[in-house]
Amino acid sequence: MLAVRLRARPARARLRGPVRRFRSAGSGPPVPVRRAHEPKDPMTSSPSTTVADPAQQQVVLPARATSGGPASNQTGPASRLDLFRMALSEEEDPEPFYTKLAERSMAELPFPVCARRVLDLGSGPGYYSRALARSGAEVVAIDLSPPNVHAAAASGLRALLSDGTNLPFADGTFDGVMCSNMLEHTPTPEDIFDEIERVLRPGGWAWVSWTNWYSPWGGHSITPWHYFGPRLGARLYMALFGPPTKNLPYDTLWPTHIGRTLRQLRARKGLRLLDAVPRYYPSQRWIMKVPGLREVVTWNCLLLLERVR
Ligand SMILES: C[S@@+](CC[C@H](N)C(=O)[O-])C[C@H]1O[C@@H](n2cnc3c(N)ncnc32)[C@H](O)[C@@H]1O
Repeated sequence: MLAVRLRARPARARLRGPVRRFRSAGSGPPVPVRRAHEPKDPMTSSPSTTVADPAQQQVVLPARATSGGPASNQTGPASRLDLFRMALSEEEDPEPFYTKLAERSMAELPFPVCARRVLDLGSGPGYYSRALARSGAEVVAIDLSPPNVHAAAASGLRALLSDGTNLPFADGTFDGVMCSNMLEHTPTPEDIFDEIERVLRPGGWAWVSWTNWYSPWGGHSITPWHYFGPRLGARLYMALFGPPTKNLPYDTLWPTHIGRTLRQLRARKGLRLLDAVPRYYPSQRWIMKVPGLREVVTWNCLLLLERVR
């Protein structure tokens, strides 16, 4: 793998998190990048005039490029039953489950992706990016974790190490944003929605899903102890089993509720909520209309959004 070290980009003033840099990995055409001094108004910052300055990024060229992931056998989306079976062994063997889940999500995506510029926000190692690329999208994967960014780049994806609350792109850069299971891993989801709104072109779409806190899987590794609350639940879990393998509450996992998220979105002028459904059983959308119940019965909440024109 060939690495080219280049100059870092200046941090945006309101960035609060620990990550104040970004790096780029992978191949692909240039994507408009917003420089620190640029205005946010899409009328005054045209993506075509703000193409990424390669001198601002650390580029890692992948040794070989492929749009398929290691576990992709290109046989089409798995049934819900198959997915459920794979989910049971997700801890030991995550690759088949997440690859097939991404393929299934792509097959059900109600937006056009072929030849569209799509951001995979919180991409992990790139399951969704690869599925998007196979559908013909021009994908950029963004993640906070260097190993994930390198894993994404190793499969030929264009991948950037970047904070989703401070994206290095000009306003209106993307036709679509995919954001799977990342929202609950950030303390300020409203900042993620700010950035989704900003980087989408008018009429662009966003597909956002996350595991809501009171979901049967809301506590991730400490489930079901999260029902005692994020602090007490974590303490009880640790007293019994030791530190969780990953996702300790208030470290990399924050209680993220459906009602609050929907209220914040409805108050937003720049994003329109098109639909909200339980991701794994979307036919049961009525659940979303029942406050309280929806927080517990929805395993994973899926929101479809449109950037207001
Ligand atoms: C549970 S993984 C989901 C990965 C992938 N989207 C999927 O569904 O398979 C959450 C990912 O979000 C990333 N992440 C968390 N906070 C982030 C942030 N502020 N900006 C970018 N990525 C973030 C983590 O590094 C992690 O890879």
